[in-house]
Amino acid sequence: MTSIELNELELELRRRLSAVLDSGVQLSVVETIDSTNVQLKAEAATADQTLLLAREQTAGVGRRGSPWQSPPAGNLYLSYCVHSGRPLTELSMWSLGVTISVADALERELSLECKIKWPNDLYIQGMKVGGVLLETVNLPGDDVAVVIGVGLNVASHPDPALLQRPVTCISKHTDKSVDLPMVAAVVSAALVDMCRLSHAALQAWLTSSWPSRDMLLNQPVVVPTLGEGLGIARGLSHDGGLQVEFAGKIRTVYAGEVSLGHVDTQ
Ligand code: BTN
Repeated sequence: MTSIELNELELELRRRLSAVLDSGVQLSVVETIDSTNVQLKAEAATADQTLLLAREQTAGVGRRGSPWQSPPAGNLYLSYCVHSGRPLTELSMWSLGVTISVADALERELSLECKIKWPNDLYIQGMKVGGVLLETVNLPGDDVAVVIGVGLNVASHPDPALLQRPVTCISKHTDKSVDLPMVAAVVSAALVDMCRLSHAALQAWLTSSWPSRDMLLNQPVVVPTLGEGLGIARGLSHDGGLQVEFAGKIRTVYAGEVSLGHVDTQ
């Protein structure tokens, strides 16, 4: 991509985000970077309310330290840093809130039915379309900087055979015209809005929104960290964990991988 095109992307994004930028948010758009999350974590002390968008990441990071393939192929690699001013206990709900806010934005703007695989994977028709990586940096005093990274397959997606799971991209699921500035603008606005919700408002919204987004609800699942067999996912706990029923007893999962299981019909 030439520098003129990059400039056009930034101008278009600034135009679409003018109200957000007027409210005190800073925006940087770069051609290539190792990882937008890594960059904003390094700058966290001075990067309050900063959005960083890259056309390409050379070392994109996914959850649990896995790589996030980030070629310059029209996809979204976006991070937002905000000084939370909240206790860590309140922040546990943020990553769920961010993921729902992205799903809501895609549904609202592009009429896409977007589900969430707890806690942060975005799915369309059973195929992963994106994910959220939320990281924190302790600041002097008691404050915490939160760096929220969103990766979305907009115009293309990695080879499912290489990832060994079904993947898709937004453009395959809508007749509407989809471009990176539009997706970046709606997702950016959604992130900023979510971070400004009060804790009570966030909790109320999560409680009402999660069930219709929950891809695992009442599905058989495997939770390797619990060392049990097949369980049934039963929705969110009050503190953002995933409740899983094993032999009639509910256990709550807070971290690690949860996979959709299959029911043995033999
Ligand atoms: C996941 O594993 O599902 C989360 C992927 C998060 C990827 C995004 S892309 C923008 C930001 N920068 C990174 O290095 N990672 C996140």
